[in-house]
Amino acid sequence: MAVVPVALAGRAYDVVIEEGLLSRLGTAAARFLAPYGATRKVPFVADSTTHRLYREGIEASLGAGGHVAEWFVVEPGEDAKTWPVLEQLTDWLLAMGVTRSDHVFALGGGVVGDLVGFAAAITKRGCGFVQIPTTLLAQVDSSVGGKTAINTAAGKNLIGAFHQPALVLIDPLVLDTLPDREMRAGYAEVLKYGLLGDAAFFAWLEGNGARVLAREPEALAHAIATSITMKAAIVAADERETLDRRALLNLGHTFGHALEAETGFSDLLLHGEAVALGMVLAARYSARRGELADADAARTVQAIAAAGLPASLPALGLTCDGAALVEHMRHDKKAEGTTLPFLLLRGIGEAYVARDVALADIAAFLDAELNGAS
Ligand code: GLY
Repeated sequence: MAVVPVALAGRAYDVVIEEGLLSRLGTAAARFLAPYGATRKVPFVADSTTHRLYREGIEASLGAGGHVAEWFVVEPGEDAKTWPVLEQLTDWLLAMGVTRSDHVFALGGGVVGDLVGFAAAITKRGCGFVQIPTTLLAQVDSSVGGKTAINTAAGKNLIGAFHQPALVLIDPLVLDTLPDREMRAGYAEVLKYGLLGDAAFFAWLEGNGARVLAREPEALAHAIATSITMKAAIVAADERETLDRRALLNLGHTFGHALEAETGFSDLLLHGEAVALGMVLAARYSARRGELADADAARTVQAIAAAGLPASLPALGLTCDGAALVEHMRHDKKAEGTTLPFLLLRGIGEAYVARDVALADIAAFLDAELNGAS
């Protein structure tokens, strides 16, 4: 078992990583279940997949301690992060009589975690919640750090709150049922930690990434714990992303969001895949600026390609030009000017925020990449 503390004054919590944790939920979350006693039902939110897979085991584990779960089940996918679903969920929580000192349980990927976290942030002006992430992406990224949100017509994650969970329970065994493509998409965020701040971890992933993707228990647990340890340190240092520390977690995301927007936020390109290709572009652009050695840019591309993630723009078959991708970035950041802050690399494990990047230069770079620059 690994326990990673997130050291936030007044809101400190643990991330517990242990195989089989889900089947021991009654004990692992005993502190947050106890206030419900045997008479009040415990609110659990899941999507229809996680509900089908884990309901029985969770109910058995809770039952052993005399607790009963009540379920709010959403459809899988981003459509659950909307005002109507949020309204239904908060009405349901109020009908259940949730109090400010109660905890709501979120069982699922990033969508469920973001939705429940935001519902908890605003119900009774803030009740507690426990994250039980069931995708690799949610385990290593979205379940930790307190970013919660829904989507609106104006864009993704534009309405939300910082609201930290009280506990995060990560059971690597749940990844056994995760489709390989989603596993790879989550692995992109694991690689991100190495690339942004830990060259030794990146080198370890170069040698052991295949074992992580094959869900070998020891390799997987090491990858998750190392990723979470870095995320916890960054969140503790810069909870609200006001200092350039937490922004480092957005490595690959500015390019990535533009690609997601161009592909209509569809299954053509999953978020983790877009981040992977975004990291390739950040590395290649850094090399073009002469800030990253060509050999390190090549290592980045190789690590991403070796994981079966998209590693070159032409492979996506886009018909747009660099200027169109830059327009998505401008819109995403609501920026008017000729520059945007970009996460770039000075080395493997050395990301930084560059503030002097001209969007015209990014457009020219992307045109070259779209034409298969080598
Ligand atoms: N996923 C980026 C962050 O948590 O800040």
